[in-house]
Amino acid sequence: MTVDPRSFRKALGCFPTGVTVVTTVSETGQPVGVTVSAFSSLSLEPPLVLFCLDKKNNSLEALRASGHFVINVLRDDQRELSIRFSSRMEEKWKGLSYDSWVTGSPVLPGCLANIECRTSEVIDGGDHAIFIGQVVRLESRPAGQPLVYFRGAYADIGCTAGLP
Ligand SMILES: Cc1cc2nc3c(=O)[nH]c(=O)nc-3n(C[C@H](O)[C@H](O)[C@H](O)COP(=O)(O)O)c2cc1C
Repeated sequence: MTVDPRSFRKALGCFPTGVTVVTTVSETGQPVGVTVSAFSSLSLEPPLVLFCLDKKNNSLEALRASGHFVINVLRDDQRELSIRFSSRMEEKWKGLSYDSWVTGSPVLPGCLANIECRTSEVIDGGDHAIFIGQVVRLESRPAGQPLVYFRGAYADIGCTAGLP
């Protein structure tokens, strides 16, 4: 069976995801960020996560070269950040403040969680690269709803459940 790209995208869009902004720094020390929904936990011991990045994306080289990144998990009131970091605009960082923890990758304030990693492996995955990172520091907040992406649009799931 041949898989046509439109049906493939349509089927994959049925899987709801959260939305993250993956950040790092360029070789010249400039902040770099890209909106990514292809994020997953991978291992508890050691603590590993992964995300998948289109090889055509401008942020690929900076992410490869730096060897570290932060996964910033967006809240439902951070849709503007998702749109901003999914654009190709030069001034993604205009007017934004951010923190720096262990590696120097930007940590965005107001997120549901920030997960800082050192890259342990970059694996080839067709037209995407799979970045695997070992967690070096993280923070999460008990309150707030996630930004959710479903069928190609932002969705409101209105969840209230949470771990204590
Ligand atoms: C909700 C959402 C989720 C996205 N998820 C991914 C993803 O998982 N991987 C990816 O490579 N691009 C993803 N993108 C597309 C990139 O954010 C987009 O191509 C961006 O312009 C790349 O920026 P860059 O070229 O500066 O790296 C997503 C976009 C949106 C709006």
